[in-house]
Amino acid sequence: MAKQVVQPARAITGSLEVPGDKSISHRYALLAALAEGASEISHFSPAEDCRNTLECLKRLGVKVETANGRVRIVGAGLGGLHGPRRKLDAGNSGTTMRLFAGILSGQPFGSTIDGDGSLRRRPMRRVIEPLSQMGARIHAREGGFAPLDINEARLAAIEYTLPVPSAQVKSAVLLAGMFAEGVTSVIEPVRTRDHTELALAEFGARVEREGRAIRIHGQPHLTAKALTVPGDLSSAVFFLVAALVLPGSQVVIQNVGLNPTRAAVLDVLGAMGAPIKLLSVRSASGELVGDVAIQYEPIRGGVMEGPVIAQLIDELPALAVLGPFSEQGIEIRNAEELRVKESDRIAALADNLRRMGAQVEERPDGLRVAGRSAGRLRGAEIDPRGDHRMAMAFAVAGLGAEGDTVIREAECAAVSFPAFFATLERLVER
Ligand code: S3P
Repeated sequence: MAKQVVQPARAITGSLEVPGDKSISHRYALLAALAEGASEISHFSPAEDCRNTLECLKRLGVKVETANGRVRIVGAGLGGLHGPRRKLDAGNSGTTMRLFAGILSGQPFGSTIDGDGSLRRRPMRRVIEPLSQMGARIHAREGGFAPLDINEARLAAIEYTLPVPSAQVKSAVLLAGMFAEGVTSVIEPVRTRDHTELALAEFGARVEREGRAIRIHGQPHLTAKALTVPGDLSSAVFFLVAALVLPGSQVVIQNVGLNPTRAAVLDVLGAMGAPIKLLSVRSASGELVGDVAIQYEPIRGGVMEGPVIAQLIDELPALAVLGPFSEQGIEIRNAEELRVKESDRIAALADNLRRMGAQVEERPDGLRVAGRSAGRLRGAEIDPRGDHRMAMAFAVAGLGAEGDTVIREAECAAVSFPAFFATLERLVER
């Protein structure tokens, strides 16, 4: 397994593009597969997670061609998927498993979807429960874990209130709702990313939002589209944080997705004193896109808690490593969901930050990381626990530390950002 050495840097400067948004890429691929006609998706994410989604579609008989970051998918139509001969492999991708669970539940054939060791430890009962209410027949391993055996079934529309804020669960139910008669409603007490709703509307489904309820009308006719995926803000954040760690930094990230249900991290950083500018903001296929510019400024730090946590969930690892570079430190509360991500991110953050000499208090629902006055970080050997966001967050921390940092199994960054280390290396000044 490859170790990556990160040397301290003086600054990070220049402009870059980040890979296409992972969440949006999954959704465009799934809906293109169920549409009539051929869709062209540009700037499709090169992430391993999204490649797994494409591979699953191929096993269901969908024609998928990939060339130069562009994916062409010949839609099978809503009723056109074929029973797979082998089991589907979601790899490390929770989104792949949970969104496919919604689609596979309403098919006239049975299938099995499995994942890697990490995905097999992540909770699937949260999708099995609502899908079973719709009539799905899913068998999971004891405790509600993958692999999932999904038997043929006919689905009925339901109204479902999300017990945990999760865009994946919301999406699983909405996608299943396409295969039911009538109107399926999901009520989300806390707002989560709305890429599924926007993509469904783009492909021609009837979806409505009213307050906290999202409704989808069953049996839609989906039409192929030409779409461009915006850059992934969750990947861009590592470069924003690097610019706030290294004095003299100045970075512009082009064509980044700025969907308001994803962009809370920009407000949070702004409130801590980060000078962030949004340029050329425009709308593309229902999604907001723009360039994000930032330069170094010492930041205050602060507390993150409450409903905003659901909208910051993937950015919390990057924000946590900012703690030791901020004046007051960083405190994260109400984020117990971090414990069931690709790794237990609260434990992984606490352990690795301590290895670098940070003062950390770990709590059941978050952590507190002391600020600058607790001392400068020291380079250390980091165990990202196979979690892409840990590998990238600690690479950024390493740039601002004293001495070299070694990231074990650094190739796990490819789960969302295969060229992460090369991109970072191109921008740093030593
Ligand atoms: C995602 C939703 C979030 C997020 C994940 C991607 C999505 O997960 O953490 O990286 O694409 O819907 P939850 O739905 O479990 O919160």
